[in-house]
Amino acid sequence: MPYISQNFINDLPNQIDIVDLIGKRLTLKKMGSGYRAPCPFHGGKNPNFAVNSHEQFYHCFKCGESGGAISFMQKYENLSFPEAVEMIANEFGLVIEYDSNSKPVDPKLERYRELSQKVSDFYVQQLKSSPAKEKAVTYAKDRGISGEIAKRFALGFAPPSNKDLLLAFEQSEQAVLDLKTLGLIKTGEYGDYDFFRDRLMFPIHNSKGSVIAFGGRAFDSKAKAKYLNSQESPIFFKSKELYGLYHARKYSRSMDYILVVEGYMDVVALHQSDITKVVATLGTATTEQHLQTLARTTNNIVFCFDGDEAGRAAAWKALKIALPIIKSGLQIKFLFLPDDEDPDTLVKKESTQAFEARISNAYPLSKFLFKHIQAEVDFDTIEGKTLFLEEVTVLIALVTHDVYQQQLLEGVAQIVGQSVEQVMAVFTQQTEKIQETPQVPVDMGYEPSMPDFADEYFVPNTKPQENNSVKVLMGRMISLLLNYPSLADDTVEVRVRNIEKSQVLLDLVHSAQMDEAISQESLIKPFKSKLGVYQRLQKLCILEPFLSENQARDEFLSALNNAEKRQEIIKVKYSIASAKTLEDQQKVMEGIAKNKAKK
Ligand code: UTP
Ligand code: MN
Repeated sequence: MPYISQNFINDLPNQIDIVDLIGKRLTLKKMGSGYRAPCPFHGGKNPNFAVNSHEQFYHCFKCGESGGAISFMQKYENLSFPEAVEMIANEFGLVIEYDSNSKPVDPKLERYRELSQKVSDFYVQQLKSSPAKEKAVTYAKDRGISGEIAKRFALGFAPPSNKDLLLAFEQSEQAVLDLKTLGLIKTGEYGDYDFFRDRLMFPIHNSKGSVIAFGGRAFDSKAKAKYLNSQESPIFFKSKELYGLYHARKYSRSMDYILVVEGYMDVVALHQSDITKVVATLGTATTEQHLQTLARTTNNIVFCFDGDEAGRAAAWKALKIALPIIKSGLQIKFLFLPDDEDPDTLVKKESTQAFEARISNAYPLSKFLFKHIQAEVDFDTIEGKTLFLEEVTVLIALVTHDVYQQQLLEGVAQIVGQSVEQVMAVFTQQTEKIQETPQVPVDMGYEPSMPDFADEYFVPNTKPQENNSVKVLMGRMISLLLNYPSLADDTVEVRVRNIEKSQVLLDLVHSAQMDEAISQESLIKPFKSKLGVYQRLQKLCILEPFLSENQARDEFLSALNNAEKRQEIIKVKYSIASAKTLEDQQKVMEGIAKNKAKK
């Protein structure tokens, strides 16, 4: 990271107004020559917190917190110093000056981001001027998106021809190469073509507001993929980004909660109804990284899921990831919507107030935890209660926040009608059991608990993690394929074939290609003679499917992409390691350099 120049920091108070900055987050009342509000830091009700516009500082007369704009943002938004400066600069449209003496940001990444912004501008322009724009404009209107909100999210239109984007950028060879890296232009049998065609475009911004990827909504309900998303790229990691985070921060007065929803449209529709503290994951399950980011932004994360089976499964996954992350002051809640509704449809049907009431009545994590396990067992019997106790204590063991852990155990005692000591005894037993059995990591989304299918995948002189990642990816792909056999098509077959030690996956792809509707049982039957493999496959079969087919395809292709990339890296390392003479090593290095230049 480059350093922000000291001049810029010194001059910041002259460029902004602290009253605006704080006023976006607290309700300030004019009092005397300044402004007052209840203090956000010690949380009292009286207006002890004073903001002085003349001197550009704040001070709480009760708890003594005071400082300028940057310190307010650091404390209020939970940001590091440079993050706070960046956020202020964003909100006031200032361009940050960085110190020229320090290391610059990787120029390639900067170039990708600038190009993505240009592509976003291109799609916005198409929504205004393309001869085919009517369809997109009508679609957006029909879905209740106003001009203001379309502008806020920079919604655009990818025209139907397959070369419009290409034509707009073909003057620059570098740009076309970069667009390929970003997955916006693809190369097919008949040459290069635009990846997004005939879609309503949602640029995806990172938390600083730079465009880093796109999602595109088909207009036709019969389209093969309802949404397409940019592939992962050097500036876009799905498991890390949250759609709408930048806009949530920019358009909300405070971050007293953040609602996590499933779709782009949900975010946009909620903004349309003045509910702005909302983000969406990008077609993936919630990850630990998402939660960490959210925890830095708010003290109250509210997950919103559909009320159906898939929604509850996704919520349960999120809960398991959340348990170790809960810290003092952080609340996590779950909002379940009625059947067949999503936030978009529901907020339109009800009112903003009704939806906000749902948010404030969301289940606390503990309630969801208890209810979910209770529903799985026959709670009215001793056996059921025993199971409940055993399962719930294993999960409570994952909580690292001591006070909360204690509270949960007390909650359990109340539910089963036993003393806290009795519950503690089970808890201790269970934690001892966990420590005795070899550590099976918690199911964090998918990754760590995948049984491995590439044991033999060992290459000298590579770090264990790298072997591990290919294994993990392989497990992920197999599990997806077992649950969604229709993923197996010809291109997938070719790509999998090129990955080393992918025999199991390849065999599965072949079986699935012959019969899209093949049962899991028949899929894994050919492996019956290889007991270890068979058992691992069986385990993967019972992983609950909770993705839409398109989400599964996205996940699968992204895992495949990563496996290909990692294989490439491992190969290079292998050839370096096996080059015996200096001369050989030199050759390998030259080969790599040439390859890089080509890319
Ligand atoms: P949903 O299927 O719930 O769609 O997907 P939605 O948000 O309600 O969309 P509308 O209202 O029909 O337009 C939720 C999210 O899952 C990902 C997208 O990120 C989407 O916003 N998704 C869904 C895909 O990536 N591909 C798909 O084909 C479908
Ligand atoms: Mn929807």
